[in-house]
Amino acid sequence: MSRQKELVRELFDREASKWTDWAYDPDESFDIYPTGKARLAVIRRELERFMPDKKARLIDAGCGGGDIAMALEGEGHSVHGVDFAPSMIQICRDRYEAAFPGRGDAALRFQVADVEDFALRGEFDGAYAVGLLEYLESDQPLLGALCRHVAPGGVVMVECRNRLFNALSGNAFTLAEARSDHLGALAAELDDVARFSPVQAADIPSRVVEMGERIAKLPSFATLRDVPRDLGIQFHADIARRMFTPAQIEREAAQAGLRLRHVIYYHLHLLSPRLEASLPRFFNALAMAAQPLGETPAGAFLGTCFLAVMEKVRP
Ligand SMILES: C[S@@+](CC[C@H](N)C(=O)[O-])C[C@H]1O[C@@H](n2cnc3c(N)ncnc32)[C@H](O)[C@@H]1O
Repeated sequence: MSRQKELVRELFDREASKWTDWAYDPDESFDIYPTGKARLAVIRRELERFMPDKKARLIDAGCGGGDIAMALEGEGHSVHGVDFAPSMIQICRDRYEAAFPGRGDAALRFQVADVEDFALRGEFDGAYAVGLLEYLESDQPLLGALCRHVAPGGVVMVECRNRLFNALSGNAFTLAEARSDHLGALAAELDDVARFSPVQAADIPSRVVEMGERIAKLPSFATLRDVPRDLGIQFHADIARRMFTPAQIEREAAQAGLRLRHVIYYHLHLLSPRLEASLPRFFNALAMAAQPLGETPAGAFLGTCFLAVMEKVRP
């Protein structure tokens, strides 16, 4: 096992309960962007878009504590989770048994395995991986493993940290891109993002109106009190987290036998990322309000993440 893998496995195994408390944040006690809820909403919508009304057999790769898996199970899908951190899988099994008694064998549904090298029985309608690809050292092992498990025409959804956001965020990432002379290439890619979005430029005005209506309904700034809470998780400084562009994922997908259909951006920043630390509630309420732009090319400029929605190519 590589050092990166060992560090990541050790991190999520040791911090499983702290991490799930923070990422799923059921009582919204942390002043963070509600990543778990945002990811679930996008995945649910894409499943509906891809296979309307179908109750699907799905794989959750790098399932963590299983929030998305449990929600989709509750909606009638059948989800199999894979994660190499035993404590994460234990959380999933306990939650599954408590929420769906008698539905199936939790030990079979949630398995300790490496997402780059696993084998589940049968064929799946789809697979998704969120908060995972960034920790892997390359793309093909995961994309290949998911592609092998999914039926032709099935959906594979993978969350990616959006490197294009670095072009305009004006933060340390922008400076690092500039120093390594990558800023020009990112700007050129921004010129060509329209083809990756399901909603095109002509529909941006209606999305902007939707965003404006949401912003108008936000509680007043004074009531969005900022009470920062410490996550208390030690991330090892040597853990690398990669970033991606849609064009890069399009190439990787093709190599694995997948076709990139479109990308959906989320965690949209209407304000400079510098402000998040001092105004987390306001900052993140705005980010949620901006989500209607996530399906448009404008999301490429604003979103820190995107979900790459791919289809397994039919022979
Ligand atoms: C940031 S968490 C996201 C968890 C979950 N997808 C969610 O959204 O709640 C990343 C998860 O990926 C798992 N992971 C990372 N690399 C993995 C690998 N090579 N094989 C299996 N699991 C892996 C970690 O153990 C961790 O639980």
